[in-house]
Amino acid sequence: MRTAAAAYRLRTRPWQADARVAHVAPVADCLGPLTTSDVEATVERLRDEGYRSVVTAALHPADRRPFIDVGFVETERLHLLLHGLGHIAPSGAIPGIDLRRGRRREHAEILAVDRAAFTPFWRLDAAGLDEALDATSAVHLQTARSGPRIVGYAVCGRAGHRGYVQRLAVDPAVQGRGVGRALLLDGLRWLRRWGAHDALVNTQEGNARSLRLYRRAGFVLQPDGLAVLQLDLSDAPTPPDASPPTGPTVAAPPDGGYW
Ligand SMILES: CC(C)(COP(=O)(O)OP(=O)(O)OC[C@H]1O[C@@H](n2cnc3c(N)ncnc32)[C@H](O)[C@@H]1OP(=O)(O)O)[C@@H](O)C(=O)NCCC(=O)NCCS
Repeated sequence: MRTAAAAYRLRTRPWQADARVAHVAPVADCLGPLTTSDVEATVERLRDEGYRSVVTAALHPADRRPFIDVGFVETERLHLLLHGLGHIAPSGAIPGIDLRRGRRREHAEILAVDRAAFTPFWRLDAAGLDEALDATSAVHLQTARSGPRIVGYAVCGRAGHRGYVQRLAVDPAVQGRGVGRALLLDGLRWLRRWGAHDALVNTQEGNARSLRLYRRAGFVLQPDGLAVLQLDLSDAPTPPDASPPTGPTVAAPPDGGYW
């Protein structure tokens, strides 16, 4: 028998890159590890709602089994890196660039930087940015500006004593001038100031530039990485109006950016 609780052990929403695809992420609840029937229940519901496929948040090895048992396959791998927040390098001033807190009214401009910086698969939409900003009890949205224009941003969040670099993006037009490093180090200092004892970040395995940036800033590669899994529902019936179905969503613990 499927329970309503099972259906909500995974938070679901249309995926930003393609509304026929559902994005799912485990919610941190006290019901123990996800089971195969938890995943099956949600997949069933998404199939009924007309989704064509399902993509997961980045999952730790321990969280992948129930998805794989249901037929999900790995589609992307990510490195996981940890910073001890002991030593944080000073970052010098960058001519013509200011760092300043980001405001809700600037989300559209921030998302324009995200779109310019990331390929479609990894981009955030407004719902994804809100998720990143709501994912932790304390959050720091910092922007880099060249005059009035936002040219980079970072989202860092703290949950208990653990910090997360949730998102980092710099407009390609100003990359290679230290903006990414300045935003990253600013975020690490904020995390330490607000009680985090360490900080995690993940990055796509093929993203050599960001991997170099994180390691130069003192992050250490962790033995276990993360993976994004995908399930094709192509035998699902085509929905009549093709508009994105609206699955129920559940507020969730740290899970923004590509976490
Ligand atoms: C990753 C990213 C945030 C880095 O931002 P950035 O502003 O280019 O970063 P920096 O300028 O601090 O450093 C990048 C490079 O520029 C070099 N650099 C920095 N300042 C420099 C300067 N004044 N003169 C010359 N080179 C400089 C750095 O040494 C570094 O060199 P490397 O690429 O050989 O390692 C940016 O490339 C980006 O937005 N990428 C797409 C989105 C993404 O991948 N985000 C992270 C996902 S986890």
